[in-house]
Amino acid sequence: MQTHSYDVVIVGAGGAGMRAALESSSRARTAVLTKLYPTRSHTGAAQGGMCAALANVEEDNWEWHTFDTVKGGDYLVDQDAAEVMAKEAIDAVLDLEKMGLPFNRTPDGKIDQRRFGGHTRNHGDAPVRRSCYAADRTGHMILQTLYQQCVKAGVEFFNEFYALDLLLTADPQDPDGDPQVAGVVAYELATGEIHVVRAKSVVFATGGAGKVYKTTSNAHTLTGDGMAIAYRRGLPLEDMEFFQFHPTGLAGLGILLSEAARGEGAILRNSDGERFMERYAPTLKDLAPRDVVARAMANEVREGRGAGPNKDYVLLDLTHLEPAHIDAKLPDITEFARTYLGVEPYTEPVPVYPTAHYAMGGMPTTVEGEVLRNNTDIVPGLYAAGEVACVSVHGANRLGTNSLLDINVFGKRAGITAAEYAAGATLAELPDDPAGRVVAQLEAMRTRPVGEKVADLRRALQETMDVNAQVFRTEASLKQALVDIQQLQERYGHVAVQDKGRRYNLDLLEAAELGFLLDLAEVVVTGALARNESRGGHYREDYPQRDDTNFMRHTMAYRVATTGAEGAEAVDAAGIGPHEVRLDYKPVTLTRYQPMERKF
Ligand code: FUM
Repeated sequence: MQTHSYDVVIVGAGGAGMRAALESSSRARTAVLTKLYPTRSHTGAAQGGMCAALANVEEDNWEWHTFDTVKGGDYLVDQDAAEVMAKEAIDAVLDLEKMGLPFNRTPDGKIDQRRFGGHTRNHGDAPVRRSCYAADRTGHMILQTLYQQCVKAGVEFFNEFYALDLLLTADPQDPDGDPQVAGVVAYELATGEIHVVRAKSVVFATGGAGKVYKTTSNAHTLTGDGMAIAYRRGLPLEDMEFFQFHPTGLAGLGILLSEAARGEGAILRNSDGERFMERYAPTLKDLAPRDVVARAMANEVREGRGAGPNKDYVLLDLTHLEPAHIDAKLPDITEFARTYLGVEPYTEPVPVYPTAHYAMGGMPTTVEGEVLRNNTDIVPGLYAAGEVACVSVHGANRLGTNSLLDINVFGKRAGITAAEYAAGATLAELPDDPAGRVVAQLEAMRTRPVGEKVADLRRALQETMDVNAQVFRTEASLKQALVDIQQLQERYGHVAVQDKGRRYNLDLLEAAELGFLLDLAEVVVTGALARNESRGGHYREDYPQRDDTNFMRHTMAYRVATTGAEGAEAVDAAGIGPHEVRLDYKPVTLTRYQPMERKF
């Protein structure tokens, strides 16, 4: 085992992690641990844009942006946080421009802006052009730009290091405890060595958990590591039942086809050729927020108006757009349609269906990125930013392009706050045997001669989530998902990996990631079962209305050991010891906007 010491350790090298690193590294001795080489991070898959009310091409202002974010999030958004994000969006885009990001330009040389779902002028009158973009590769460009800047700034990267545990000085749920961050435990892929990285501040920027679902736009590595690590250490997760289904995944595959297509004029049609969004959202039509569009698509299919031999998808029609326009603005996604479905978007509509895309929930944080251990208290030295975090600026449904914005605004804030905290802090004492839990878990799975296969359990998890906890949910479907997940957790205790080696043992790390996915799926479903209403991305067919009287509140989920020892240490070595999910609730912060019925 190796031990290292830093002022600040950032876990994750996507947009949020690298934006944090840029701020932190100029103020404090900073290391970035990342399970992927930085430019392979999932930010690179984000396509359509990053929004900011620059008003470069039409009238706009940050207050309209705040309102759209709040309404798009079905009023579960903390409005003070949304205001921070919308105000700071403008500088966030200009920062990237100064770093060299090659945004598309207007004829007079300004950053061009395109339409995106739910972004409107004057509180809903019509779609507004607010999304700044680099063709349909905006996330890729952000990732490359931030990485270049990190290299220039001399940021120290530990590539292909998997963080598997968080070290705290006390149980965060012990009323007499005073938890402080001590560091993280990581596994080095190349050698199989365990590293204990001590730090005054730890920033989690580990991204989302889309792999709890089978049909997803998320890469194989999006396994919710940071969320699950924190949860196993006794920290809450907020609003996890709200999962976003992006309307336009390539049918049958889930690969993302950017909403930018609809921003540029593409139209969704059913098997009758009807532009069905006119019935569901008469003003914004195809550019309504994602929860509305995804439900409409799924409903068309359920009511028999799906296209294709099995009538199980709808069609994204770009055929009325000029090929030159498509090539200039949407080169990647049209190539995806050709490559993966054999469809030529110039002349044929593209089969699409909703795909699991984004976790609105995550580790609760303040607007400075400080992680909360309950409704009010922070854990000194612990920060989170990006999809792993719940600030909460997305509420029950995130607007497209607010994600690339979120990682820049809150990544920057978390990096500054973490470095400033570290400047006045000392390294905390490590707990006894700091890597013991990780080593015990990994060695059990690596050395068990025979047992359950990771791929079998992961497939079963993803299938039950797709069937029972997707766009439409009911009490019965969610109960079925919970039973399935708990049986899989039991089987997970008998997992044996086939690769018994130590070097580049991805088999072993996928086993660890599966444990994270199982924990998170249980939280998603438990929160969804308790939320007897429909709001944003969480649609309960048995409770189809939003219920502000009983559910205008954030869910806070805690993992509680049910037998034996108390507190976080009661979680067994595999992280799946006897436990239950305890739910608590937290008020939503309202400032300017009173909840209204959402009409688009
Ligand atoms: O459709 C898209 O390009 C995705 C953007 C986002 O999730 O923000």
